[in-house]
Amino acid sequence: MRRVVTIDGPAGSGKSTVARIVADRLGWRLLDTGAMYRAVALAALRAGLDLADEKAVGALADRLTVSLPPGRVLLDHDDVTAAIRTVEVTRVTRFAADNPAVRRRLAAWQRAFAAENDTITEGRDQGTVVFPDASCKFFLTADPVERARRRHAEFLSRGESIPLAEVLRDQEERDARDASRAIAPLRPAEDATVIDTTGRTIDEVAAIIEAAARSCRSPE
Ligand code: DC
Repeated sequence: MRRVVTIDGPAGSGKSTVARIVADRLGWRLLDTGAMYRAVALAALRAGLDLADEKAVGALADRLTVSLPPGRVLLDHDDVTAAIRTVEVTRVTRFAADNPAVRRRLAAWQRAFAAENDTITEGRDQGTVVFPDASCKFFLTADPVERARRRHAEFLSRGESIPLAEVLRDQEERDARDASRAIAPLRPAEDATVIDTTGRTIDEVAAIIEAAARSCRSPE
């Protein structure tokens, strides 16, 4: 097993940006697990499936391949790096995230990825479910309005105009669902360091995680 640093937390907590910076600085690979759930949701949309049909979406996840070459997301061989970030895909990804067969399949891919690479992995369940033995675990949080502002700016920068209030409402719904989900609910692992990123710079947070990662042991 290679070295693994887990960074979990809700949308807009800054974890994706921080994880990318730390992975670049260390020369480790970045595992964006949210991108994998998004890619499965996109595949289901494209296949015209009813997203709520657990069996059909689970079977689809078994047939497809999601891979994460540096900086890109491939669904089978199709580059879906931009297509998975739309408001529409963001909204329906919960169906993939709530699906036990999809979670099992993606967790197996995530472990296989980390077996090959020193990895900074980010998501919701990386420290609790997928890599419970990781020696360096972080959980990032931030004030909800601040998080919604970050997400809103992200949509705008991609040319998707959506009112901030709508982003905040979607976020509240998603947070409640993520936290109360029967499988892999969003919560910090007991041994995770919790960092509130509100009012902190990305650089400050990245420096804390980078320092920890440099001294982190390989899992047994
Ligand atoms: O981090 P993100 O917004 O790209 O995540 C997309 C969705 O996938 C979000 O609804 C939470 C879910 N997710 C999950 O359930 N487990 C993960 N490890 C990563 C993301």
